[in-house]
Amino acid sequence: MPDDAPHPKHEHNPLTFPPDFLWGTATSAHQVEGNNTHSDWYDWELKYQPPNKRSGLASDQYNRYTEDFKLAKDMSHNALRLSIEWARIEPEEGVFDSAAIEHYIKVLRSLKEKNMTVMLTLWHFTLPKWMADKGGFENGKIIFYFDRYLKNIIPHIKDYVDLWITLNEPQVYAFLSYYAGYWPPAKKSKFSLLAVTYNLARVHKKSYKTIHSLVQNAQVGIAQNNSSFDQFHKHSLREGLAVWFLDYVNNHFFYQLTSLDTHDFFGVNYYFNRYISFNGESGGRLPQLVDVSTTKKEVTDMGWEIFPQGMFDTIMDLSDYHKPIYITENGLASTNDDRRCRFLIAYLQEIFHAIQTGAQVKGYFHWSLTDNFEWADGFNPRFGLIEIDYKTLKRLPRPSAYVYSTIIQHNGIPHTLLRFLGHTVHADEVLSLEHSCPPGLCPVAPQDLAALTYQQA
Ligand code: FCB
Repeated sequence: MPDDAPHPKHEHNPLTFPPDFLWGTATSAHQVEGNNTHSDWYDWELKYQPPNKRSGLASDQYNRYTEDFKLAKDMSHNALRLSIEWARIEPEEGVFDSAAIEHYIKVLRSLKEKNMTVMLTLWHFTLPKWMADKGGFENGKIIFYFDRYLKNIIPHIKDYVDLWITLNEPQVYAFLSYYAGYWPPAKKSKFSLLAVTYNLARVHKKSYKTIHSLVQNAQVGIAQNNSSFDQFHKHSLREGLAVWFLDYVNNHFFYQLTSLDTHDFFGVNYYFNRYISFNGESGGRLPQLVDVSTTKKEVTDMGWEIFPQGMFDTIMDLSDYHKPIYITENGLASTNDDRRCRFLIAYLQEIFHAIQTGAQVKGYFHWSLTDNFEWADGFNPRFGLIEIDYKTLKRLPRPSAYVYSTIIQHNGIPHTLLRFLGHTVHADEVLSLEHSCPPGLCPVAPQDLAALTYQQA
């Protein structure tokens, strides 16, 4: 643009997403259902976790799914990502529980009756206790057992599922459960890490084939924890190389290991931006993650950096594969719902830009619909658009639920909401310019709206 050209007019149009974009939230069975008594996690929690970090009743979604799905529908969701629990379906080796199967048929059918697109995860970190006792993913026989589970459940539910996720975050699981010792079975072994990663890949490959043989035109993928990486010192060559390597291992390796043609789409769980530096405890010998607390950046209640641009980078990094991309998880733990509103808008804005740049992003599933059981961290992290009062199990939609609903109703981000990002704007001003609250979903009393005021962290 020549220097004397008039400055382009500030764009006031809404950031409109493609037609048929999927808008929803994501959950996983163990984190919300409650009483998952035949699973390895439940067992491990009883043995090793203090009472306040046991899943127990969780948010009792096993019994309250009708209420939760109604709330999702009231919030205008057109899609939902959820998982089913192998430990309920096959509580004992070779014994398939018809009541549990019937339950999941009802659950999934009820979503279809609401016209929702259903994305179903078949494994989200938990195993039946009997399978864990046989060595879980360390035992190559899991390929046979998992396949048998699929063959016994998929024919019952296939009419109610649109998108299939075989595995959730396989590498995170392998790392935390078999190398970091943070999740069950709490091992710390490089050898186990490799064996488990390899077997997870084999399970995915086999499942991909099985699902396609049972379901016509199935769409199958995994949900991977994709992170953005950056070097801390702009001119450091070795940091650049470390970033390249970590990006490969974290974001690309599993696709190669399983072979790209077993992924009809990419499911992206985006939570992390990582800075890499050699100036750490290793005295410069090894690349290390920079502790964000030392950089004083804005973080969530988990201490995870809030870095919307990383969403754009992560999507663009994958878009060269020319496959459809779904953001299968993205969200934050925060008791500050104002922060959640801002987070939501900022990350969605980056997705919008990635789509404008040519990425095939087809849907966004915010983590999560309700507060839930955050694995080894228990119930303190609050990830929900809807708050759970754990004493009464009452569902209390947060203002962010309403903001998300407004976005969905516009199929994009109206300009009025964008104002929320950069200025001190009162939420009553923002929200009153938009739709009135859907019935039963206006969680914010007018006098409380001031609490939504954006404040620079
Ligand atoms: C992801 C998990 C999900 C949830 C979020 C916060 O890594 O897939 O179950 O715990 O983190």
